[in-house]
Amino acid sequence: MAMAERERVICASSALTEGGVGVRFKVRRHGTDAGAFVIRYDERVFAYLNSCAHIPIELDWMEGEFFDKAGLYLVCATHGATYEPATGHCIMGPCKGANLVAVRVEERDGNVVLLEPDVA
Ligand code: FES
Repeated sequence: MAMAERERVICASSALTEGGVGVRFKVRRHGTDAGAFVIRYDERVFAYLNSCAHIPIELDWMEGEFFDKAGLYLVCATHGATYEPATGHCIMGPCKGANLVAVRVEERDGNVVLLEPDVA
């Protein structure tokens, strides 16, 4: 069997602005492709599976629109669950207290890199 892919470039660092539009990508989780997204907040990048903790559907109704208008919180477009960008913790809404599933990413050499894209 081929060795699992260990990392992959998602996008250029310059594609993500503070509190701005996120970039969607796919990760392999337990043998199936799952949607995920990465955003910039507090000068760092954070990524989560694109699946609301309330009902497992995508957060963004307009592609890449994960932040509220102020660029301070991630908001699910369906029922308004509000998440802290740096932790994925839901602070308001129907799934208050629940968490988005984090995806490991880091910035390196001007790119945003997905670590361990393939989790068995
Ligand atoms: S599906 Fe996200 S708040 Fe209901």
